[in-house]
This record gives sequence, structure tokens and C-alpha cells, in this order.
Amino acid sequence: MTDSKRTATLTIDGRTLELPIHSPTMGPDVVDITKLYAQGDVFTHDPGFTSTSACESQITFIDGDKGQLLHRGYPIDQLAEKSHYLEVCYLLLYGELPGADQLEDFENRVTNHTMVHEQMMNFFRGFRRDAHPMAIMNGVVGAMSAFYHDSTDINDPWQREVASIRMIAKVPTIAAYAFKYSMGQPFVYPRNDLDYASNFLRMCFAVPAEDYEVNPILARAMDRIFTLHADHEQNASTSTVRLAGSSGANPFACIAAGIACLWGPAHGGANQACLEMLEEIGSVDRIPEFIKRAKDKNDPFRLMGFGHRVYKNFDPRAVVMKKSADEVLALLGVEDNPKLQVAKELERIALEDEYFASKKLFPNVDFYSGIILEAMGFPTSMFTPIFAVSRTVGWIAQWKEMVNEGNVKIGRPRQLYTGATTRDYVDVESR
Ligand code: SDX
Repeated sequence: MTDSKRTATLTIDGRTLELPIHSPTMGPDVVDITKLYAQGDVFTHDPGFTSTSACESQITFIDGDKGQLLHRGYPIDQLAEKSHYLEVCYLLLYGELPGADQLEDFENRVTNHTMVHEQMMNFFRGFRRDAHPMAIMNGVVGAMSAFYHDSTDINDPWQREVASIRMIAKVPTIAAYAFKYSMGQPFVYPRNDLDYASNFLRMCFAVPAEDYEVNPILARAMDRIFTLHADHEQNASTSTVRLAGSSGANPFACIAAGIACLWGPAHGGANQACLEMLEEIGSVDRIPEFIKRAKDKNDPFRLMGFGHRVYKNFDPRAVVMKKSADEVLALLGVEDNPKLQVAKELERIALEDEYFASKKLFPNVDFYSGIILEAMGFPTSMFTPIFAVSRTVGWIAQWKEMVNEGNVKIGRPRQLYTGATTRDYVDVESR
């Protein structure tokens, strides 16, 4: 951030305030309002934070008009094509692409922390078998702070590092166990001779009754899905993690808060909702009926997997995801998957429709991901847990960036109060 010495002038009831303007390395300038209330006795009002910068960060940059997504300056399409998830994790956490030795060390550290404390298995058995895997993940990840006391002191850099590695390593194991539990199948322990994505697929789909060979096509697709969902600036769940972290909460509790927020269908829950929508549409001839509903202000129905708060041109992740969906389904011999056909036709029709064009709505990261995940054999209930597995590194990188700055101020927004003015209590006899 550079102090441009430029200021924004705000005049309120004859009083003039000069507010500093800070310039970023990329993106819009920001008007610094930290002194606004003290000097001007007014708040700003921005429900949903459509125009608010909540923090300074160097991790991820999004240009919504250009459809650009950079992780530490590297475009997402290059990372998806040339890198792999654990290397992207390193980049997000430490700021630079690792050298060969650094990468090997990081991958070994993650791989050797993939098992969870054996007693944590007991948590799973407390859930109903039909519990949503996100409910289980939310509970079990939060419970990690009850098992890993030696990495909960946020003021100790070493403990912050250990907690970060533990969560990147163990959250996929917890997600896989939640999936197994929902099916009544035995948990499958992680293996240290498998890469991250292959390990996750094996923990999800292997059974003791037979050998399991990881399909390299699915492993590559799984790793790419992890890469595409890893971080995304100050989205709702990341902002939740930062806000929880600003109170000094331990890292496991902060990530559990992020999982809770991600679950919503307007956010990470959209991948499940999108596939269920494609199932409900069923065939291309029913698409007009759903397009009509999506445009009807009196109908709460929205095209799931469409639209984005920031992207107003296209979501670069959706472009990569669509290409991956074509590749994976063709390699699996299911390119005529009806949901893929419905999705492509729905995208084509919507993008030609004035309503969607005028509101700059188009497929986001969640529109095609579910089609690939279903082709891999996952039920829709596992789509958001997989998003959570991937986004754990983004949440942790953003949390570490905030805590590493030191002197973290607790996040405490104010409000526009329109409730009752002061009044005296009235006894029940007099009401
Ligand atoms: C993710 O923030 C992130 O970065 C999130 C994410 C990440 O990686 O962390 O990218 C992941 O959450 C992707 C988004 C997944 N959600 C969905 O696909 C759910 C469907 N999409 C919508 O709910 C909506 O588009 C949002 C929530 C994504 C964005 O909502 P905004 O920015 O608050 O936009 P809005 O609701 O104000 O919509 C603007 C207009 C409205 O019409 P008007 O009031 O102006 O007349 O567009 C309409 C909306 O009704 N609109 C839609 C629509 N999305 C917005 N109309 C039909 N279908 C849709 N999907």
C-alpha cells in the first residue's frame, strides 16, 4: 500500500473532512475512514460490504471486470494447468513458489500429519448416520482444539505453523470419515505413499473388502478442483475466519467458523444446490421454465452456480472447471451425461438472455464442479465438504496473514439503528 498523500474530501453539515486515500499494487484505491467517526461523528453504511475494504492483504487479487484471479500474482489458469494443490498451498502460505527441496519438505510435513487422533473417531459416532457431512465437519474440526492443545496459542509462531499444517493435512481425512460414516462403511486410514488428491479419493472410496487403485484421471481432476477452490480474497467464509481470529480465538475454532459460513447455498453450498437444480430441470426442454422463474422477482428461485459479487465478466475458475468437466467425462466415457448437457444449454440460453446480461450473471466456480464430482462418485452432500477441504488453506493463509501482522484489532462493525427510541419500563398491570 502506498500513501498517495491524496485525500478524499467529505463535507457533512458544513464540516469538511479530509480522508486519506491509499493506493494498492493492483485494484481500486481505498478511502481510509478509520478516523471518520471520531472526526465526523458519522458511520458509513454498507450492508453486505459491497464497497468496503476490510483489510490489507497480499495473498489473492481478483479483478471482477477482467475475470482475473491471481494467487500471489500467479493467474489461476496457469496454476490449474501447471501446478498442483500442495504447491499452491505453499504459495498461498509463504508467498513464493517453492524450490524442489522446499516443496518436498512441505509435502512430507503435510503427508505425515494426515492421521487424526484416534479418540476423535468417537465424535463421529455421536452423529446420526444421515447427518449432513458439513455438520460433522463443523463439529469435528472445531473439536480439534480439544485435542491439539500444543498448537492453539496464536501468539506463538511455531504453534501457528503447526496448527496450519495439521488442518491442511487432517481436514481431508475428517471429510472422508464423514462421508464413510454417512454410508455406514469403515473409515479408511490415510496412506503416506499417495499424493494429496489420491489419498483423499482412496479414503473416500476404498473398502476393506478389495484393493483400491486410484484412477489417475480422477486424481488429477480432484487435485485441480482443490486448486481452483483454494482461496478467493475476502469472501464470506474467509471474512468469517478473519473476524473470528480478530478476537484471538484459536485457529481450529476460526476454521470451524469458516466451515459454518461456507455451508450456505449462497456461498459454498451452491455446488450442491446447483446439481440438485440441474437434476430438477432434468432435460433441456424444461430450461425456459426455470429461466423464467429465475427472472421472476416474486419467485425466490435463483440459478444456482450463477452470478457473483465480484466477477462481472466471467469467473476464470468456471472456465477451467468447464474444460475439466468435458475432459473428465469424456475420459470416463460419460460425455453424454444429461446434467452436463442441461448445464451447457442452460449456460448458453442464460448468456443470451437480456436479464442475465444486464445483471452480469454467468456461471461461477460452482456451476460445473458438481458435474465432475458426481462423475467421480460423490453424492451432492459431499460437494461442499470438498470445497471446505480445498478452502482450508485459504482460510489459514488469510488468518496467518492477519495474526502475523500483530496488534490485531477486534472486528466490531457498528449499525444504522432504526429501533425504538428511549422509553421507560411499564409494569405488566399497566400494559
Ligand atoms: C461462491 O465471494 C466469493 O468469492 C464466493 C466464492 C468463493 O470462491 O469464495 O466465489 C464462492 O460463493 C460463488 C457464488 C455461489 N453462489 C451461487 O451460485 C448462488 C446463486 N448466486 C446468487 O445467490 C448471487 O449471485 C450471489 C450470492 C453469488 C451474489 O449475490 P450479490 O452480489 O449480493 O448480488 P445480488 O444478490 O445483489 O444480485 C444482483 C441482481 C439481483 O437482482 P436485482 O435485485 O438487482 O433486481 O442479480 C440477481 C438478483 O436478484 N441475481 C440473480 C442471481 N444472482 C443474482 N438472479 C437469478 N439467478 C441468480 N443466480
